[in-house]
Amino acid sequence: MSSGKFITLEGVDGAGKSTHLGFVADWLRAQGRQVLVTREPGGTPLGETLRELLLHRDMDADTELLLMFAARQQHLAELIQPALARGAWVVSDRFTDASYAYQCGGRGIPVERVAALEAWVQRGFAPDLTLLFDVPPEVAGARRSAARAADRFEREADSFFSRVRHAYLDRAQAEPARIRVLDARQGIGALQAEIAALLQELA
Ligand code: TYD
Repeated sequence: MSSGKFITLEGVDGAGKSTHLGFVADWLRAQGRQVLVTREPGGTPLGETLRELLLHRDMDADTELLLMFAARQQHLAELIQPALARGAWVVSDRFTDASYAYQCGGRGIPVERVAALEAWVQRGFAPDLTLLFDVPPEVAGARRSAARAADRFEREADSFFSRVRHAYLDRAQAEPARIRVLDARQGIGALQAEIAALLQELA
């Protein structure tokens, strides 16, 4: 049995990526794939407990980074790697690119710290495809303020999200084959057509 593929969705809060998660999963299932949908931080019982802390408790920026990777280690060991090994495709709402974007870009943590944790926890493992939903800050800001009660990240200033966005775009530029940038201002139909074409390339 061949092992499955790992797809991640990324973007600043308010880019609308969560809307597309279901589309990606449905498209893959329609191709006869077994699909596991998950998210970070979270995905496992322990990870979801860490998510509560990460989203709602104030903490030092390095503590935040370490907890993100603690949750990620558990997620990989308990859920992602076993699912891939049994041939399922895994679709995750965020993964390690979010740590580079939010903890390095947003919070200013040196990239080397994230790279060291990534090497430790992932040992070279990486997504097969990352969809980066990109929108200008004013669009994301308007979507965020229309959303439900804000968490610790969503309460950050526009300047924070601008740094997060640029960190994501820098990563996409460095890894253009894996990270595909989508203009999330487009209508949903156009975006879904683009997503389907990218999934087709992978399948
Ligand atoms: P998010 O994915 O936006 O969930 P929801 O759509 O339910 O709000 O929430 C997760 C938050 O965690 C988001 O603001 C980004 C942040 N985050 C990091 O800062 N670093 C990480 O490594 C990950 C995975 C997420």
